[in-house]
Amino acid sequence: MILVTGSAGKTGRAVIHALSEKGAHVRALVHRPDQIQAVESSGAQDVHIGDMNSIPNMKRAMQGVRAVYHICPNVSQEEIDIGQAAIAAAGTVGVEHFVFHSVLKPQTEAMRHHWNKLRVEEQLIESRLPYTILQPAAYMQNILAHWESILSEGIYPVPYPADTRLSLVDLLDVAQAASIVLTEPGHHFAIYELVGIEGLSQTEVAAILSQELGRPVRVSAVPLEAWQDQAKDTGLGDYQIETLASMFRYYQHFDFLGNPQVLGWLLKRSPNSFSAFVKRTVRERLHQERA
Ligand SMILES: NC(=O)c1ccc[n+]([C@@H]2O[C@H](COP(=O)([O-])OP(=O)(O)OC[C@H]3O[C@@H](n4cnc5c(N)ncnc54)[C@H](OP(=O)(O)O)[C@@H]3O)[C@@H](O)[C@H]2O)c1
Repeated sequence: MILVTGSAGKTGRAVIHALSEKGAHVRALVHRPDQIQAVESSGAQDVHIGDMNSIPNMKRAMQGVRAVYHICPNVSQEEIDIGQAAIAAAGTVGVEHFVFHSVLKPQTEAMRHHWNKLRVEEQLIESRLPYTILQPAAYMQNILAHWESILSEGIYPVPYPADTRLSLVDLLDVAQAASIVLTEPGHHFAIYELVGIEGLSQTEVAAILSQELGRPVRVSAVPLEAWQDQAKDTGLGDYQIETLASMFRYYQHFDFLGNPQVLGWLLKRSPNSFSAFVKRTVRERLHQERA
């Protein structure tokens, strides 16, 4: 049995699905009862409801579990405490393999949520548990937050300059890599960067969208202050807004680039390109509309 924490989010559901495709038995830790259906339809056989901040809750969820795939909620102020609770619980119940869903370049102190993940990595390395750390780049799926405006207005908005270059990764490739390290031997005490493509400017992203959608899409660089005001209106907390704004400033100054070789080696094929991701999304949306 493999426990997936943070399981009802997009990462958790993708990992559960990839694991169940490999025939693995998955227990999902969810936060609320209304999340049970989402994880069961992704393939979880067993569901526990609990708070990741609570060591007793985490111990209960880890009873009888061989491996843990730990996913902290996105941009959580409690990332270090949650990581500590998960690692402590795993150590006391005898989990054989702890896999941590980290992030690409956690050593960037200017991005608080990356730096917090580095602290969790450090605790895990010093825990004596057999571990694997996965460090994914930004997901291609993040663009789906703007899918409607891309389709209806031909505008792809980003809170950094259009020439900012980012490496991206398809979440499906990340989930497949997670399923490989959790079910195949040879990945203890390893740290893997999961990067799908070498790096695209936002103008290049818009050009690929134009080509694949068959209509013009242009990138629109939104001033950071305007993004912060919009984020406040949507109810995002001050910590999350400040942390994400510091990430966007970092992107503007330094780009955010990685190398896809490690992911290709793990998957034994080339990682999915951004064009392939857009093609698949168009197919999936058409299918959903027809259903
Ligand atoms: N997006 C990217 O491009 C990217 C790239 C690399 C790494 N990552 C990392 O991926 C991770 C997951 O991101 P995501 O967007 O898939 O996650 P998410 O949507 O934030 O999902 C996390 C899940 O955890 C639950 N949760 C929150 N607090 C909890 C608690 N105290 N106890 C138990 N469950 C709790 C949430 O439920 P509620 O709805 O009840 O809060 C939600 O279902 C993050 O750590 C992020 O840094 C993301």
